Amino acid sequence: MADKVFVPPIKIQGIKTKIVPLIKQVAEFADSDVWFEPFMGSGVVGFNVAPKCAFYSDTNPYLIAFYQAIQDGEITSTNVRTYLESEGKKLSELDDEYYYEVRDRFNRHHDPFDFLFLNRACFNGMIRFNKKGEFNVPYGHKPQRFAKAYVTKIVNQVANVEALLRLNDWHFSVMSFDEVIPEVESGSFIYCDPPYIGRHVDYFDSWDEEKEVMLHELLMAHQGKFMLSTWDHNSYRTNDYVYTLWNDCYKTTREHFYHVGARESNRNAVIEALLTNYTPAAIKPEDECVSSVPVQQSLAI
Ligand SMILES: C[S@@+](CC[C@H](N)C(=O)[O-])C[C@H]1O[C@@H](n2cnc3c(N)ncnc32)[C@H](O)[C@@H]1O
Repeated sequence: MADKVFVPPIKIQGIKTKIVPLIKQVAEFADSDVWFEPFMGSGVVGFNVAPKCAFYSDTNPYLIAFYQAIQDGEITSTNVRTYLESEGKKLSELDDEYYYEVRDRFNRHHDPFDFLFLNRACFNGMIRFNKKGEFNVPYGHKPQRFAKAYVTKIVNQVANVEALLRLNDWHFSVMSFDEVIPEVESGSFIYCDPPYIGRHVDYFDSWDEEKEVMLHELLMAHQGKFMLSTWDHNSYRTNDYVYTLWNDCYKTTREHFYHVGARESNRNAVIEALLTNYTPAAIKPEDECVSSVPVQQSLAI
């Protein structure tokens, strides 16, 4: 039976929850290795790989501050329940008005509890900041937003992170990938999940060709294994970078759905690609949706 995937307390667009089992198979991560994840996002990938030693980083300071707050004991599964129950009550009484009050408060004080509240009450679990660096996602209307079962679910997700942090030697830092990757020692494993070009851009989360080329250069110079998550194609377009820039890599693909748009019609099937600088040996043949070949032997659609 497939391992249960642990879902983290923070949501983010492009979250890899559905593809985590495949990522784990392809990573072939040995426990003695150090895991580097320079585009941490929600943390779902590393948290499920559960390496003994890991360095997580991201340019979004609020994601990092949230996990550091759990690590420091500032956020616990106990005080998260108290906080969400009391804020949830105010939200159910005042609705939008209260959501926007918390949003303004977060944009002034950047409290990690408020970041969690906004992340779990906003529209579609989006994380988006305007040019001034202010969180600007609207309210995600839902009656009983913080119902008892929902609060318990989030509390359990925080408790799972607490347990992982007790067991492992993990580090969280606000850094850009180009500061992290050149410092990674040979033999360490690097997993990268950068924003996809043209899909989503905001103050902490923009991506362009220059960055894609720089990431490629840095990963190719790394004396150890790396894996890159990217998209291969959807019904309308192919990611040409896979067949040009990354064409020395090995490519593992499987169908994967994104749940970002509000409307069903926006939820196109995207073929997700895992690009590696090694041949993954652990792909299970019974997983019929998976193909694993050198990029040069796979055809652009
Ligand atoms: C697709 S998301 C990662 C999702 C993550 N793998 C998950 O499953 O939750 C991309 C992340 O890259 C971060 N990011 C954007 N530009 C960056 C940069 N230059 N260096 C490091 N992180 C960056 C964003 O803040 C975002 O959290």
